[in-house]
Amino acid sequence: MLNSASEVKDESRPLVIVGAGGHGQEVLWVAARMSLESSHERWNVLGFVDDRPSLRGCMVEGLPVLGSMQEFLFAHAGRPLFFHCAVGNNHQRQKLAAVMLSEGYQPATIIDPMSVVSPRATIGAGAYVAPRVYIGPLAKIGRFALINVASSIGHHCVMGDYTQACPGARVNGHCVVENLAFLGSNSVVHPGKRVGENATVAASSFVVRDVKPNTLVVGVPARMLHHTPDFENEADFDDAPPPEPAPSTVE
Ligand SMILES: CC(C)(COP(=O)(O)OP(=O)(O)OC[C@H]1O[C@@H](n2cnc3c(N)ncnc32)[C@H](O)[C@@H]1OP(=O)(O)O)[C@@H](O)C(=O)NCCC(=O)NCCS
Repeated sequence: MLNSASEVKDESRPLVIVGAGGHGQEVLWVAARMSLESSHERWNVLGFVDDRPSLRGCMVEGLPVLGSMQEFLFAHAGRPLFFHCAVGNNHQRQKLAAVMLSEGYQPATIIDPMSVVSPRATIGAGAYVAPRVYIGPLAKIGRFALINVASSIGHHCVMGDYTQACPGARVNGHCVVENLAFLGSNSVVHPGKRVGENATVAASSFVVRDVKPNTLVVGVPARMLHHTPDFENEADFDDAPPPEPAPSTVE
């Protein structure tokens, strides 16, 4: 297995992944891919932190669920660890990151070796850049942003903190996507447009006008459906994994 302790090099950094759902497992895989490349950070993934009682004491992808956030903080207080928040919901990710930062843990930025990132782009601490992502020159990716599979962020774009570009999203040059905004799968943002804070762009929609903060826009061209002050549907894909057998029975 790529993430087994025996394959991790001495200089690797200890990492815990917050969230053991589908996205957490993708992050584990990408962290392992990074660790095989001399040009990337090497991570020694210790396990997952997850609040779901159904995951207590479970193994996920061969690694332990170390406990809920509260249990983890109690057991590992003061240890020099890195964390990555692998939680799809932008608001939840913001809250969890704030807790981990306040306890002194360092954010791990996870960038797949098969992404194409301009050397003149900047990637915020704690962000995730998935396989086959493109990030153009002078683009700025915010802290704890989630840039998912095969999406592209054009030159001079700004993706704010805790934003999310879902698989296949296309953000053309000179766009601004404000903090906490969510771009659904295969959505397209016309060059130079602004997507307001905490706005949601539906899957496969085409943004041709600026999107107001806290709104949901839908369709081609995208039109406002309603205000979404506390929209949290985006976490739907981050379901709990089925429990794995105890370590002693794993082949
Ligand atoms: C837009 C979205 C957030 C709406 O969710 P919702 O609030 O539950 O809304 P509903 O499903 O009730 O749909 C409301 C209306 O919008 C329409 N609609 C929903 N999504 C749409 C889309 N992507 N394009 C066009 N119309 C859409 C529905 O047909 C419905 O129209 P109606 O009122 O005429 O019947 C959701 O459909 C979406 O696109 N989510 C993004 C999913 C995604 O990309 N996930 C990636 C995970 S990695």
